[in-house]
Amino acid sequence: MASNSSAAVSPDTLCIDQPDDWHLHFRDGDMLAMTVPATARVFKRAIVMPNLAPPVTTVAQAEAYRQRILANVPAGTDFEPLMALYLTQDTTAQDVREAANNPNIIGYKLYPAGATTNSSAGVRAVDAMGPVFEAMEELGVPLLVHGEVTEPEIDIFDREKVFIDRYLAPITERYGRLKVVLEHITTKDAVDFVADAHDLVAATLTPQHILMNRNDLLVGGVHVHNYCLPVLKRRSHQEALQQAAISGNAKFFLGTDSAPHVQAKKETACGCAGCFSAFTAIELYAEAFSQLGALDKLEGFASHFGADFYGRPRNTQKINLQRVGWQAPETVSHGGETWVPYWAGKQLQWQVVG
Ligand code: NCD
Ligand code: ZN
Repeated sequence: MASNSSAAVSPDTLCIDQPDDWHLHFRDGDMLAMTVPATARVFKRAIVMPNLAPPVTTVAQAEAYRQRILANVPAGTDFEPLMALYLTQDTTAQDVREAANNPNIIGYKLYPAGATTNSSAGVRAVDAMGPVFEAMEELGVPLLVHGEVTEPEIDIFDREKVFIDRYLAPITERYGRLKVVLEHITTKDAVDFVADAHDLVAATLTPQHILMNRNDLLVGGVHVHNYCLPVLKRRSHQEALQQAAISGNAKFFLGTDSAPHVQAKKETACGCAGCFSAFTAIELYAEAFSQLGALDKLEGFASHFGADFYGRPRNTQKINLQRVGWQAPETVSHGGETWVPYWAGKQLQWQVVG
């Protein structure tokens, strides 16, 4: 067991400090009645991504969105949404100052324009964002990054590495005190980059990128519910992500990237990217860590390292997991719509109790 871990692991029970989800998508409107309770069931805090349509670009929009989220937290549940603002080409240093003064805003999310769902308003010229990055560095506002280039000539499996080489390495070298989170990393290149970069550079890891590789997307047919961005990579990359997750290196922490799209928008000719994992999130990580023989490393990854990175207190409540074989739901329904979650119908070894 890690020396700073308070986790109690027996063969059949696991008690850890309450975890946080440092990257997810709640969407908006009526869907919040489904997505918010699903996450608040287990997590104390979550960073809520701003890629709504239209995107959440201002502090006022984030505050209003936060109130809509809070209105859907079940009574008696203590849950804190942390808001990411959507960085655009027009974001100014003055905007950063306003964001820095609001404790509910965790940072800015950089989407390269066209990289993923609702990213068309994202950044077109990263090189022109210097004054904004300087203000973020000076004011201690973290930069959360979707790390993929979008140039059509770059192969989709290389887009994360090219983004790191072209944009992220120069940013982290130039702004040595800027907190940077490379979100939902998918490659050994990203693991190595983050491990070698300065101390304020970290990364989130999703359950799907730890548990699966591109065979799970493409062998025997196209498995649309395993399709997300950045896309699953080859097995050797998956193994590097697994080792990062269980390494005890505090630069690597939990961010589910739970991203619901209704069944009809996944199971179609041009299916949306995103894996909806909120209903089984911590159980999926427990599954992965258990498979890797590293359950004692789950608590640091899920409950400590992200809070430490963002300078927030560690949670004082606990959650309990029990080893009981159970089947992840095939579908979830709400308001007349149906979603097929990630890992639908498959077995899980651990379940949250009490
Ligand atoms: C996310 C979504 O659907 O909003 N999709 C995904 O595949 N991860 C966007 C994102 O985080 O890239
Ligand atoms: Zn995301």
